[in-house]
Amino acid sequence: MSTTERTFIAIKPDGVQRGLVGDIIARFEKRGFKLVALKLVKPDQKQLETHYEDLAKKPFYAGLVKYMGSGPIVAMVWEGLQAVKTGRVMLGATNPLDSVPGTIRGDLCIQTGRNICHGSDSVESAKKEIALWFKDEELINWDDHSAAWIY
Ligand code: TYD
Repeated sequence: MSTTERTFIAIKPDGVQRGLVGDIIARFEKRGFKLVALKLVKPDQKQLETHYEDLAKKPFYAGLVKYMGSGPIVAMVWEGLQAVKTGRVMLGATNPLDSVPGTIRGDLCIQTGRNICHGSDSVESAKKEIALWFKDEELINWDDHSAAWIY
């Protein structure tokens, strides 16, 4: 199994406004994932529409795009063994009330429409999302010397 699988993780506007950026980043760092890209962005409408195009017909879509565009988000790429699946487990369920304690949503939020973080749901969507939010040169190659102790 690949230790270089990548996932796109974003801290949504509510997570940024509530001062949860450090906590969320710390969980991925401490777990042993490698940070490959990171930036604070004010997303434009078009980027958000593309990001959530699969949900375009859902009744909550317009509100979702508005909320996501309401302030800066932290966009990140994390790399490691089963980064996509494990990232989703660390985030918790879409509805925070179904998220178990110990997960980001289970510890830090209450409502689906304000669930503070996003994580890719498959390796394929991770590839698309990384390409949507980052330029190639923003993905940083570096030697993570802790890897020898993690794998
Ligand atoms: P979705 O891709 O189903 O969930 P996840 O973020 O866990 O992959 O939905 C995207 C976002 O849309 C979700 O994080 C919060 C929002 N949303 C609502 O506002 N209401 C809803 O009923 C659902 C299902 C999602």
